[in-house]
Amino acid sequence: MGKKIRLDKFLADMGKGSRSQIKEAGKKGRIWVNGQAEKKPERKIDPETDQVCLDGQVVAYRQWEYFMLNKPKGVVSATEDRQYKTVVELLGEDGRKGLFPVGRLDLDTEGLLLLTNDGELAHRLLSPKRHVDKKYYARVSGILPEDAVWRMAQGMELEDGTKVMPGRLEILGEGGSAAGGGEKGPGRKEEEKTGETEVFLTIQEGKFHQVKRMFEVLGCRVEYLKRVSFGNLVLEDTLLPGQYRRLSEDETEGLRKAGG
Ligand code: URA
Repeated sequence: MGKKIRLDKFLADMGKGSRSQIKEAGKKGRIWVNGQAEKKPERKIDPETDQVCLDGQVVAYRQWEYFMLNKPKGVVSATEDRQYKTVVELLGEDGRKGLFPVGRLDLDTEGLLLLTNDGELAHRLLSPKRHVDKKYYARVSGILPEDAVWRMAQGMELEDGTKVMPGRLEILGEGGSAAGGGEKGPGRKEEEKTGETEVFLTIQEGKFHQVKRMFEVLGCRVEYLKRVSFGNLVLEDTLLPGQYRRLSEDETEGLRKAGG
């Protein structure tokens, strides 16, 4: 026996409309539970054992939800905030299912953010012991030292003494010259030379401002930051900032493997 929930919450969570639409559907006799019309939206059901039908179609129960969001700048990686719009709000109706972001991206960072209601998997994915790769595209100003790749690969001590695990740095080129930041870069015109260096940095932790602080140690400043992959998940170019999509079965399976 699973946990009992209200019939209208169940249907809303499965994407079958708002609570008021569901109430109306109930009144019209369109909702059935275990073969009988059910007009009371507050009726408690067990989604694992009770069969719910809407307009004659069985409503399949999906307990865990996984979404990939391309987080835009200016949106906060939280479920609630007094000042800024949250990543959960960007998911509209889908966001009202107890979803939360797996880790955080800074307010000014863009890119791949996983949202789920699966607390156990989230916890495992965030553990530095699981070594889940997080790959970032960055444009940095300042002169990267010649041994930057080596220094990132050694692991380093940040300016406040925090130690971080090794990172893999790939230098793509000077700003504007590397065909817009390689295949995952956001696309920039050749003439937009900025003197910034375009890089990928892959790390396995998620300490506060970690990428920015790692570059600070090298005497550089991150001017633009975007996460392009998280474990087996890769942000596709077609998912624009602010857009999101449900993960495929293969992707969620891959995440479970990554989480160990
Ligand atoms: N590192 C940062 O500095 N910021 C982020 O948003 C993510 C990683």
